[in-house]
Order: sequence, then structure tokens, then C-alpha cells
Amino acid sequence: MKIGVIGGGQLGRMLALAGTPLGMNFAFLDPAPDACAAALGEHLRADYGDQDHLRQLADEVDLVTFEFESVPAETVAFLSQFVPVYPSAEALRIARDRWFEKSMFKDLGIPTPAFADIQSQADLDAAVASIGLPAVLKTRTLGYDGKGQKVLRTAADVEGTFAELGSVACLLEGFVPFTGEVSLIAVRGRDGEVCFYPLVHNTHDNGILRLSVASTAHPLQALAEDYAGRVLKQLDYVGVLAFEFFEVDGGLKANEIAPRVHNSGHWTTEGAECSQFENHLRAIAGLPLGSTAKVGESAMLNFIGSVPPVEQVIAIADCHLHHYGKAFKNGRKVGHATLRCADQATLQAQILRVEALIEG
Ligand SMILES: Nc1ncnc2c1ncn2[C@@H]1O[C@H](COP(=O)(O)OP(=O)(O)O)[C@@H](O)[C@H]1O
Ligand SMILES: [Mg+2]
Repeated sequence: MKIGVIGGGQLGRMLALAGTPLGMNFAFLDPAPDACAAALGEHLRADYGDQDHLRQLADEVDLVTFEFESVPAETVAFLSQFVPVYPSAEALRIARDRWFEKSMFKDLGIPTPAFADIQSQADLDAAVASIGLPAVLKTRTLGYDGKGQKVLRTAADVEGTFAELGSVACLLEGFVPFTGEVSLIAVRGRDGEVCFYPLVHNTHDNGILRLSVASTAHPLQALAEDYAGRVLKQLDYVGVLAFEFFEVDGGLKANEIAPRVHNSGHWTTEGAECSQFENHLRAIAGLPLGSTAKVGESAMLNFIGSVPPVEQVIAIADCHLHHYGKAFKNGRKVGHATLRCADQATLQAQILRVEALIEG
């Protein structure tokens, strides 16, 4: 089976690493000459709106998926005429726009931060008056790794901020004084079968994920699965869907969803019976889903800007290096390490070792 992937970054690369043993082949559509997934399959180097290349991709593959949610809606609509695309155009339409996403949470009775649609500075002033400060202003589309958003703490922060974010459609959200951030990686097959991985505790720095630790019997697991189940059903979703939640007042508020494999699920490559990458491929290919059970105690640390010396990373016991083969650049995710240990005490000690390497 040949899978077409829109986007040729590290998520596409890791999908191919997981799918190759299943006998799958891959083609990636990505305009970047140095797309890092290209090492693992065919690279169609073209813009996402290039209909000749989209048609070529559709002709070559059995089905299409994507590794980022900002794929233009027209691209998905065009491809869908010729080849099955999973997740669906509708799932993508909702997940790529923070207003549609939060409105869906609200309609499904899933708690979220207070939010308002912002089309002008006047909208922003009015929304700040009703939601209050602190608050977070985010562009409705295209934001990632904390980009395209600003925390507003004082009246001075509000002035002129709509223009500062580019005078594009935004969402204002109440600032959530969370006690923690957790994510749930869910997967749903073409036949409606659903599986969930254990909740992951995430630590961000400047809006970018640094550390994920997989939990055991988290008290909010059932609640998170209940919320996620509603969304999966509503969207008739196929593939991996990631949910980010704020932990607050002993409950959860939904922050966002990502219609793809997710950074906070990278630990599953070594830390679960079947990884999020393999399960995404199984789901879209109509194959039986694999076990999401945890194997040992796991964590994932991102390498941002640069990867520490390979020999030092892999010298740490229980540590697995994932090097994306991308050019090093400040603020860019260029690799990660997963740790899979026998117990929590060992895991915590090894996290400190990897952190020391990152800081050194
Ligand atoms: N309403 C909020 N209240 C408090 N912190 C927030 C809020 N929204 C975002 N953040 C912080 O910023 C991070 C990135 O925001 P998020 O909406 O997840 O955007 P991205 O698409 O960049 O991941 C979150 O993981 C969280 O740490
Ligand atoms: Mg996020």
C-alpha cells in the first residue's frame, strides 16, 4: 500500500519509519527542497496548491493523509475527488481554526476557556471588557509552537495588539490558571473502533513543548476519554487525533485538538505496544488498531535548535535518540529523546541527565 503524505517534516518521516515494516511505501508532497521526510520515500517537490502535482500524487497512492493541519482546504477538496483522504476535509476545517474548534467543544458540552471571535481592535476591546485580563489573543489559523499569540496582562498590552498580530481573524481566550497541561492521543479506525493512550503530562516553555511524561492511571483519564470520544464521533474521525487540555480545579478545560500525530505522543514509539504513528496508519488503512498499552515508564524531551552530541545522548541508559536530519536553527524542533525505564524513580533520574545535556 502506498500512502501520500501532505507535508514532509519530521512527523511524515516518523510515519514512514512506522509504516515501512507494515509493507507501506510513502510519497511526500512538500515544497521545501530539504524536507526531512524525503529520506524515507518519494518527494514531490511542489506547492500545496499545485494541481498537477496533486493529481500525480492522487494517481500514485492508495490514500492520502497529512502531517500538519494548515493544509489549504482547497488542497484537501481537490485530492478528495480522486483518492480517499483521512482525516476528512471537515475534520481539518474544524481543527485548523481555533474559533470552529472551540465552538465545537462548547456545542458538545466540553469545558473550554471563555473565548470570543475577534475581527477588529474594537472587537478586542469589547471582548477584553467581558472576558477580563489576563487573556490570550491568538490568530484563528496558522499558529503553532506558541507562534501567533500574545498574553495580555494590562490595558497597555491590549492597545494596538490586533494590528500587532497582523490584523487577521483572532480568538481571545481567558487566561487559564492551570495546575498542569495534559494531552490525550486518541485513534479511531474506519469502522469506528476507538483507542486512547494514557494521558501525558506536558511542560511548555515559551509556548513550545519541552517535556512529556506518560502517566499511569491518571485520575482524569476517564474524563479526558469521555470528552475526546464526543469529538471523534462528531467528526466521524479516522486516524490519530490529539487533544490538549488544561488541568484546572480538579477538572479539564479543552485547549485545542490536532488532527494528526502529535509531539506529545512521540514517547509511544518505544513506550507503547503500538506507536501513535503505526496506529494512525493502521486506522487510515482500515487495518485493526494496535494496543495503546504502556510498556514501562516513559518520557520524551524535545531537542530545540540543536541535537546534543549523538554519542552522549545514546550513552544514557534507557534513552532513544530521534534525530530528524534537519538543519539546526534557533527555536526549531530538530530531534527528541524518548526514555523508557523500569520505574518512575529511574525515569526521573534519566530525565535530569537528558536535561543536563540539553542545557550543556
Ligand atoms: N488560555 C490560556 N491560558 C493559559 N495558558 C495558555 C492559554 N492558551 C495557551 N496557553 C499556553 O500556551 C501554549 C501554546 O498555546 P496553544 O493554544 O496550545 O497553541 P499552539 O498551537 O502554539 O500549541 C499552551 O500549551 C499553554 O502553555
Ligand atoms: Mg498547543
